[in-house]
Amino acid sequence: MRNITLRNRIGVSPMCMYSYQGGFSNDWQVIHLGARAAGSAGLIIAEATAVDPIGRITPYDIGLWSDEHIDPLVRVTRAIKNSRAVPGIQIAYAGRKAGSRRPWNIGKPRQPDELPSWQGVGPSPIAFNGDYEVPHELSVEEIRAVQTFSSMVKTTPS
Ligand SMILES: Cc1cc2nc3c(=O)[nH]c(=O)nc-3n(C[C@H](O)[C@H](O)[C@H](O)COP(=O)(O)O)c2cc1C
Repeated sequence: MRNITLRNRIGVSPMCMYSYQGGFSNDWQVIHLGARAAGSAGLIIAEATAVDPIGRITPYDIGLWSDEHIDPLVRVTRAIKNSRAVPGIQIAYAGRKAGSRRPWNIGKPRQPDELPSWQGVGPSPIAFNGDYEVPHELSVEEIRAVQTFSSMVKTTPS
C-alpha cells in the first residue's frame, strides 16, 4: 500500500474494547494489539479513537484529543512494530452514537460506579435507534468545530 509493505494479507479490524479511562491507552491495549502482532498479522488497526471527548461512543472509549494521549499510544505502536506488524489507527467521531453506554450494559439498570455519559451530536435531532438518546442538532458553526477537531465541550467529560 503506497510505500508500506505488509508481511502478509492478514489485517486486524479496529475493535472497540471500552476499557479505558479519560481516553488514555493502557496496558490492556498494549497486550490486546501486541498479541495480535505477535500472532503474525500483517496489519493491526487500533480501534475507533475519538478526536473529541464527546465523540466517544462511551466514557470508556479511547481518544486522541490532546498531546497527553500520544505517549501511551506510542507504547502500542512500539509493541506492534517490535513484532514486525504495521500499526494503523481508526480516528473516529461517534456523532449521534456518542454518549452511550458499554454494549453489555445497554438496557440494564445503571451501575453505581458507571461513568456519566453526555449528549451526542448529529445533523438532525433523530436518535440512532431506541437504545440511543436524541442527539444535539449541530449548527453550521458547530459542524465547522467538529471538522477542525475543536472540541465543543467546555469541560472534558471523564
Ligand atoms: C468487539 C468488536 C469491536 C468492534 N469495533 C469496531 C471499531 O472500533 N470500529 C469499526 O469500524 N468497526 C468495529 N467493529 C467491526 C469490525 O471492525 C469488523 O468490521 C466486523 O467485525 C466485520 O468484520 P469481518 O467481516 O471480518 O468479521 C468491531 C467488531 C467487534 C467484533
